Parts: sequence; C-alpha cells; structure tokens
Amino acid sequence: MRVSFILLGLAATVLAVARPESTQRDIEATGGYWYETIKHNGISPEIPNGKNWTVFRNVKDYGAKGDGTTDDSAAIQKAINTGDSSGTRNTGSVFGSTGQPAVVYFPAGTYLVKSPLQNYIGTVLMGDPTNRPTIKAAAGFSSAYILNGVDPRYTGLVGFYHEIKNLVLDSTAVSGTKTITLLQWGLSQGCQLSNVMFNMPIGAAAHTGISTPSNGSPLIFNDLQFFGGGVGTSLSATQYHLKNLYFKNVQTAVSITSLVQGTGQGLRFEGCTVGIDTTSGGNGLFNLIDSTATNTSTVMNTAAFSSSNTQNSLNLENVIVDSSVPATVKSGGTVVLTGSIMPGTTWTRGNIYTASSATPNHSSGTKLTTSRPQTLVNSTGFYQTVVPPNYAEYDVSNVVNVKSVAAYPVAGDWVADDTASLQAILNSAAGKQLLYFPSGIYLISSTLLVPVGSRLIGESFTQLSATGSNFKDAKNPTPMIKVGNAGDVGTAQMTDFVFTIADILPGAIMVEVNMAGDKPGDVGFFNCHFRIGGARGSKAETGCSSPNTCNAARLCAHLTPSSSTYWENSWSWGADHDLDGSNTSVPSSGGGFLVEAQGGTWLLGIGIEHQALYQMNMYNAKNVFLGLQQGEAAYYQGTGNTLLPPAPWADSALPSDPTFSWCSASDAMCRMGIYQRIYNSTDINVYSGGFWNFVSGPTRTFCSTDCQMNAAMYENNSRLFSYGISTINSQNLILESGVGGDKDVAAVPRTANSGATHDSFNTGVMAAYLRQSA
Ligand SMILES: *[C@@H]1O[C@H](CO)[C@@H](O)[C@H](O)[C@H]1NC(C)=O
Ligand SMILES: *[C@@H]1O[C@H](CO)[C@@H](O)[C@H](O)[C@H]1NC(C)=O
Ligand SMILES: *[C@@H]1O[C@H](CO)[C@@H](O)[C@H](O)[C@H]1NC(C)=O
Ligand SMILES: *[C@@H]1O[C@H](CO)[C@@H](O)[C@H](O)[C@H]1NC(C)=O
Ligand SMILES: *[C@@H]1O[C@H](CO)[C@@H](O)[C@H](O)[C@H]1NC(C)=O
Ligand SMILES: *[C@@H]1O[C@H](CO)[C@@H](O)[C@H](O)[C@H]1NC(C)=O
Ligand SMILES: *[C@@H]1O[C@H](CO)[C@@H](O)[C@H](O)[C@H]1NC(C)=O
Repeated sequence: MRVSFILLGLAATVLAVARPESTQRDIEATGGYWYETIKHNGISPEIPNGKNWTVFRNVKDYGAKGDGTTDDSAAIQKAINTGDSSGTRNTGSVFGSTGQPAVVYFPAGTYLVKSPLQNYIGTVLMGDPTNRPTIKAAAGFSSAYILNGVDPRYTGLVGFYHEIKNLVLDSTAVSGTKTITLLQWGLSQGCQLSNVMFNMPIGAAAHTGISTPSNGSPLIFNDLQFFGGGVGTSLSATQYHLKNLYFKNVQTAVSITSLVQGTGQGLRFEGCTVGIDTTSGGNGLFNLIDSTATNTSTVMNTAAFSSSNTQNSLNLENVIVDSSVPATVKSGGTVVLTGSIMPGTTWTRGNIYTASSATPNHSSGTKLTTSRPQTLVNSTGFYQTVVPPNYAEYDVSNVVNVKSVAAYPVAGDWVADDTASLQAILNSAAGKQLLYFPSGIYLISSTLLVPVGSRLIGESFTQLSATGSNFKDAKNPTPMIKVGNAGDVGTAQMTDFVFTIADILPGAIMVEVNMAGDKPGDVGFFNCHFRIGGARGSKAETGCSSPNTCNAARLCAHLTPSSSTYWENSWSWGADHDLDGSNTSVPSSGGGFLVEAQGGTWLLGIGIEHQALYQMNMYNAKNVFLGLQQGEAAYYQGTGNTLLPPAPWADSALPSDPTFSWCSASDAMCRMGIYQRIYNSTDINVYSGGFWNFVSGPTRTFCSTDCQMNAAMYENNSRLFSYGISTINSQNLILESGVGGDKDVAAVPRTANSGATHDSFNTGVMAAYLRQSA
C-alpha cells in the first residue's frame, strides 16, 4: 500500500492588536506568568528513560539572551533538539510521534536570529502571554524562512501535535524585496497555532506570514495578527477554519492556492489590497462569516464561477464593509457584489437546495435568508467566540500542579491509578485554583467528575487515559471524564489534553458533558483531542488484529441535553495507523461526537475520523453552531468489508445510533459511518463539512471513484441551515428524510454537484441546503 494513502488518515489572553511601536523591546522583569515559575515535573512515560525526560525548556537555560542583539538561533535550536541518552529529538524515530513532548518556553524579550529555526513533532513553542516575546530575523537574514514548523521526518499529512502560541515573528529588519516566509506550517490535525503576531515591513511584497507548503489536513488557526507584508497566509490544504485573524496593511491577506473547503470567521481586513484571493481556482467552497473590511480594495477576489461545475462556491454572511471598500466580491476580474451582507442574509454562489425544488439552483450569486438562534449570537448578531484561555490572570500561588499535592499523590506515569487523588484535588480546587497537569499519562479507572468551578490545563498534550473493568461493558457505557451533572451551571474548562484509552474498552465514553456555562466558553474545550489506539500507551496500538474483534471505545464526546459547551480545535481519531511504530492494529471505535445538547453549542475546527457508526451525530439537538467539520471514514469499511454497521456495535446500540435501515443488508458501500447526521433537531447552523474518502475496504483500495454511498444524513429537522458540504468520493452529499414526507432520498448527489479535482480525486461541492430550514 502506498504510504501516502495509508497515512491520509488521518487524514489565551487579551489580544493586543496594535502593532508594537518598536519591535525592539527592553527586556522586562519576568516572573509574571505562572507557567514560567511553577514547578515543572512533566515526563514521557512510554519511552525507556521517560521518567527522566525534560518537558519544560526555558530558552534562557539553553543560552538564549533575548536582548535583541545576540544571535539566539543556536541556543533556541538546542532547547528544541535536546533529547536524552537515547538521542536528540531531531534524529531517528526512537521517541516516535508521541514520546518526545516538549515546551520550549520564551520569557519576554526579543530573540534575534541569524539562522532559521526548525521545529519538531511534539513541540510547543510558547511565549509569555503577558508580554509576547519576539523572534526577530536579523538584517541580512538569508534563509527562505524564519521558522519551519514542519518536522522534516513527517509529511504534512502526519504532522500532528505541534503548537505555537504567544509569540511575535518579525521580519521588519529584512529587506522587503528578499523572499522570506516567517512561518512554514502545513501540518494536520492535533496542532495549534494561536495568539501569534506576524510583523512584516509595510509594502514588503516578498514577505509571507505563513505558508502551508506540504498540503496537510489541518483544522484551525485562531487569534492571529498580521501586519505589513505581501501575503498574510497562503493556504494549500484540504480544509481550514480561520478564526479571529486581523490583517493590517497586508497586500493579500489570505492567498488560497488549494483548499477544498474553508471557513473564515471573524476576519478583519484593514488597509489590504485583497482580503481573500482564490483566483487560482483551487478553492471548492469558502464561507466568509462575521467579518469586516475597511480601506481594502477587494474583500474576495475569486476565479470566475462556471455554469458547468460548482468549484469556487461561496457563502458570505454578516460581512460588513464600509464605504472605503469598492468591491466585496470580484469574479474573474469583474465586481459582482458591493456593500455589506448584513446579519440575517447569506449571499450564496453555488448550488442551492431550497424546500421548493429537488434540483439545485446553480446560482452565480443570490441572497438567501438565514436565521441564527439568539442563544448562539451576541447582540450584534455575531456567533459568540472566545479566545482559548491561558490563565495569564492567575498568580502562581493560585495554580496547583496536580503532581505536587502531598496529601494526594498523582504520578501521571501510566502505571499508577491516579483516579482517587485527582478526584480529591478536583473537588478541593473547584471555584478556587487552576489545575496544571504536567505532561504525562494519567490513568483513570473510574469516572472522574469535573465539578462546577474547574479549570484544567495540560502541557504538550497531557494524556488522560481510561483503563480497567469499569469501562469494559459495551451495554453499560461509562464516562471516563464527566463534566458536571445534569442541571449544573458554571465553569469547567479544559485546555491542551488528549483523551485516550490505555486498554481495549468497549464501554468507554471518553468525555460526557452535562454542565452548561453561565456564558459561552465557560464550559469549554480548547485544543483537546481524542485518540483511540495508534500510539504507545494503549493496548489498542498492538492488540487489535481486526476491527471485528476489537471494540476499543464506545464514544468520544457525548454532549447531553442539559449541556452547553464551546469546543475549539478538536480531533477525534480512531487510529488507522501507528504514530509510534509500524503496528497494524485496527481498533473499532463506535462514534465521534454525539450532540444532544439544547442550550447552545459552539463547535469550531472539528475533525473526526475513522469512527464506525458516525463521525458527528446531532440527535434531538437544538442551538448548535458548527463552523467546520472535517471527516474521514473508517478505512476498513466500504466494498469488501464484512463487518457491516451497525456491527460491531449492534448488541450495544444506543437509541441515538443510526440503524442503517436505509441500506440493503449486504450493501457495504451504504453501510459506512455517516459523517454528519442531523436528526430531529432545531436551530442548527452548520458550515463547511469536508468529508473525504481516499481509500476504502479491508485492503484499503485506492478510491478511483465514489466509494461511500452517503456523506451526510438530514432527517426531520427544522431551522437547519447547512452552508457548504464538500466530499471526495461520496456518491451522495446528503441523504434526506422528512421533507414533504420523503424518506431516505438521495437529495444531493455528487453528479449534480461536481467541483474540480483535488489531487486527482473527484470532489462534490454544494453551497446551501435549505430544505429543512423552515
Ligand atoms: C537524567 O537526565 C539528566 C539530564 O539529561 C542526565 O544527566 C542523567 O544522567 C539522567 N539520569 C538517568 C537515570 O538517566
Ligand atoms: C489605507 O491602506 C493603505 C495601504 O495599506 C495605507 O497606505 C493608507 O494609509 C490607508 N488609509 C487609511 C485612511 O487608513
Ligand atoms: C436561482 O438563482 C438566481 C440567481 O442566480 C436567482 O435570481 C433565482 O431567484 C434563484 N431561484 C431560486 C428558486 O432560488
Ligand atoms: C459581537 O462579536 C463581534 C465579534 O467578536 C464583536 O466585534 C462585536 O463587538 C460584538 N458585539 C457586541 C455588542 O459585543
Ligand atoms: C509497535 O509499536 C511499538 C511502539 O509503540 C514498537 O516498539 C514496536 O516495535 C511496534 N511493533 C511493530 C511490529 O512495529
Ligand atoms: C423529536 O424532538 C422532539 C422535540 O425535542 C421530541 O419531543 C421528540 O420526542 C423527538 N422525537 C424523536 C423520535 O426522538
Ligand atoms: C418526522 O416527523 C414526523 C412528525 O413529527 C413524523 O410523523 C415522521 O415519522 C418523522 N419522520 C421520520 C423519517 O422520522
């Protein structure tokens, strides 16, 4: 099998947006940020000398000066590369993808670099958020980039678990005619790029803030600022959710060479020539929502829209421009839209499915009416968003390192059962302290209740891992992490965690949320991911010879009816390959996200892959915003598969599970996990579904044509607005029930919604589905 296709599986703070007056700062007294001074005792339990592994690396301890004049490149690189007695972090594969967690920490200061920096997998490059440090390229810097964020040992498609936050990257000392990229990114899921400023000289056409050369399968960038330069970010990837990005005096803020599906939410363009450039024709569909522009010549400059396919589809919703903006949308050089699109209206170009017509209206631009539930928006009609917390407001005396509480020993070492101690610490800290979980694997053997008033933060993907008999009964699924009880209202936030399983646990629900926030984001999950098998630390990495015999976890996230949560940047991965070795274990995981919540749910930058029954299931749900969902099928499913859903989970079916009754008994192409099921739900606003099938069936045969029957299923909903579904190799984008009494109708076939090819795969692209919007 071709490695590239095996691997496809794959696949805060108060922001200061003013450009700094001077990029050369005085060194400031540090010690303000709790994380810099707290005791660091994170480990890497699954590698041979892992109890002696150094996670936290303050660059100043490796010789960096941060004085704006010393060349700090070598010292910073040393902090990144240092491994242990079995090798450095940048060579070989001794540590695998998950065995070398590191936080390379930058105290406030300006770190001058004369040579480029190279990042590696498992690394968090993190600055002091109370005074973001600057990494500044020296005058005469000669390399093509300042920071390469992509580990050269892994292609972008398996570039997982990298983070960069609270930094300023600066090219203002470099000539504007020298071609330079501040950050090469181009990674996939499980990565975070947040609260970073890109500072370039004004008018420097040859400077690019972020480039994404390696065509990964990423989820989201959030809360970034770009000043000056030629291009803010260039995008070449299957999908991206861009959230809260501010561009000032950037010539082209976002340049898209290739992107099947994207969402821009909260983009702000000031003094740009072009906001988003898709004139390459490489964009299937872009949703631009809740965004503003001023002193910008063209907000979206697009390739012409063809009458014969749906490539270059668009939705603009709540895009506010002032009189200084002459063109809102240009198409093939012609202005096709001017002025603002106010809340309540969507301007759509592409195929539109309305209640009155079963055939799509192939529209070159029309205004549709869209309602957004009050629960989901602020008083000016924007979907609520929050900045991921970094708790900079906490003094170190109000932060508890869970491994430093004498009365309740916690090991995080993948050996000790940490459940009872963690429960005691959670109960005692609730409403008072922030809990810091140093990197490691914390074994949980019975449900851990996260009470009202909890704030938990991990470190380079701290693992909470279920184990033991409490999670073995598929007929009695039990949560590992239970956030509140039904009726609880308050705060519970988790940041920078991986939820996983140490054993094969058919009855494990990894996270169940019952609590509602007082306000959006109070109950929130930021950069929290799920992993079922595929890595050291889990028996599902080696113990599943076949999905037929290996029901490894029941459900990733269950958002129960009483819950109200905000999720930003979350990847649920049922392993389809091994991140740390070359084991070929294939676990079956039952489902991704089950959303029954009614009180307001915000889902941004969500990826769910390889789950057996569904990736996303909104069941009797209400008031849900979904900004972007990426998905891939379970690869063992499809033609040739004999384990036909609802197997192997039929014996333990939940009322919410799809029955697959619409498929004939032996139809393996129909009996595949549904990407996005929305059932009997109300007030649902979903954008950018990107659902990909690259290989299919037990032998993972390359999909040269459609290899899954149905991507989304929409049944008996009201006020459902679905703006944008893209597929690779699904015969139907949407299977529909409950419109005028219809049942299981292939309402949106790919053949009527052809986009362009992406990497030689056929795409389906639909702009708007409004048949259940009444
Ligand atoms: C632990 O790591 C330190 C620093 O890398 C090293 O000097 C020491 O020998 C290691 N100890 C063991 C037991 O491996
Ligand atoms: C508009 O943007 C241009 C280009 O970035 C800049 O030179 C100019 O000063 C801006 N004008 C105003 C009024 O802000
Ligand atoms: C179809 O789209 C055109 C614009 O392209 C618009 O004028 C027309 O009203 C649309 N028809 C329906 C039924 O939506
Ligand atoms: C609503 O949210 C948007 C985007 O975050 C913000 O610009 C606007 O000021 C907010 N409106 C109010 C009234 O807070
Ligand atoms: C399975 O993965 C582990 C690392 O987690 C590795 O040590 C072992 O060699 C792998 N086995 C095979 C057959 O690749
Ligand atoms: C559909 O939703 C309604 C309203 O929430 C609920 O009363 C009803 O029981 C649901 N129907 C089914 C079949 O779940
Ligand atoms: C849809 O809802 C109607 C009325 O609630 C019900 O009669 C019908 O059976 C439902 N259809 C499906 C497919 O669930």
